[in-house]
Amino acid sequence: MRDYENNKGTMMIDGVSSVDIANKFGTPVYVTDEQIVRENYRNIYNAFAQYMPTEVHYACKANTNLAILSILNQEGSHIDAVSIGEVLTCLKAGFPAERIMYTGVNVSDEELAQVVQTGCRINLDSRSELERLAKITTDIPISFRITPGVASGHSEKVMTGGKGSKFGIPMNQVIDTYARAKDLGFDVKGIHAHTGSGGMTTDPFTDVVDVLCEMVNRIEEEVNIKLEFLDFGGGIGVPYRPHDPEADLNELAILITDTIQEETDIKTVALEPGRFIVCDSTVLLTKCVDIKEAGMKKFVGVDAGFNTLIRPALYDSYHYVAVANKFNKAGVAKYEVVGPICKSGDYIAHDRALPEMEEGDIVAVYCGGAYGFSMSSNYNSRPRCAEVLVNNGEAELIREREDFEDLWRHQIVPARLSK
Ligand code: LLP
Repeated sequence: MRDYENNKGTMMIDGVSSVDIANKFGTPVYVTDEQIVRENYRNIYNAFAQYMPTEVHYACKANTNLAILSILNQEGSHIDAVSIGEVLTCLKAGFPAERIMYTGVNVSDEELAQVVQTGCRINLDSRSELERLAKITTDIPISFRITPGVASGHSEKVMTGGKGSKFGIPMNQVIDTYARAKDLGFDVKGIHAHTGSGGMTTDPFTDVVDVLCEMVNRIEEEVNIKLEFLDFGGGIGVPYRPHDPEADLNELAILITDTIQEETDIKTVALEPGRFIVCDSTVLLTKCVDIKEAGMKKFVGVDAGFNTLIRPALYDSYHYVAVANKFNKAGVAKYEVVGPICKSGDYIAHDRALPEMEEGDIVAVYCGGAYGFSMSSNYNSRPRCAEVLVNNGEAELIREREDFEDLWRHQIVPARLSK
């Protein structure tokens, strides 16, 4: 887990006081350190690119802020997009269509037609999608997502690659599907699988690469298609707790690229990290607005609930918390950090040792860059929060806090009801 500088008791984010950010932009606010996004991208790209040609497809579902996408576009990243909305957002951020690969699931005819219009690459998830795409065009390079029978992840809810999953072409239909694509006249370029998200071991990656390599060779032998790229998906876990180990990228890259190069003639390896690139780049700053003692429990009521960060409530995920304005003070008591949402499941952190808490303190929730803002909502009619980008001692707003008008913008009250 990444540590932050302490300046006389104040948490600093790339030279900027987190307390000043909270005061200037209000809370809750997601604060991203630009240099960390760049560093994470470079680390993962270089780890693989030193061994073979590599495409890092940033899984933008983790964080689609246009400024963050623009940073990754400058770095030369590719994109894994799962909806036409994500494709259009990445185009808006400046990504060329050739660097975007769309992998949808249960894709409608309308969405498929819109995606074709953008000119981005399409990775097909089902036989139905193949047949429906063929009715629109066959003059487009494609690849397929397969269901590898390998699942991984920090929670059952994010495991995708196991047998019987809703994602991908089942193993026993892969050869037929590639053959059908060839018959239809498609140029099939690659193969893809994703086992799940946030697992902390290398086994699922090596297992899925074994499955993919075997398929690459069978497709060449049985269907006579020579594939160019192999995409083993995303899911590389990151340390959320202070003593969690970091992923050994070099070891992972050696294991994977060795297998691909020894077993196949594949030219390019692709991977789709989301969390790895943005997770630890961002903290969520939230203000303590209320203090309560109930029996043995001490509650710190903050202004961010699961409307702002849903991961604890949804997956029981751990996010480290610190007090940004008491950064040099040791924990003196165990607190429950809870939000303003009217549901008992609304919490940010359980049973954490914190300094003596007071109203007005700023709580920093770590590792908020992935699936933080992107999964936030307006539940309880709370406008969504602001996002700020810090770079070389400067903090800039990259998303305005929503206002109440935003809550009502798309609602229509029939005239007869407003009399
Ligand atoms: N590729 C595909 C096809 C995916 O479905 C995903 C994530 C990724 C790549 C990126 O996975 P990552 O490297 O970020 O782990 N909301 C959950 C995570 C759901 C991920 C869904 N798919 C969370 O907050 O942990």
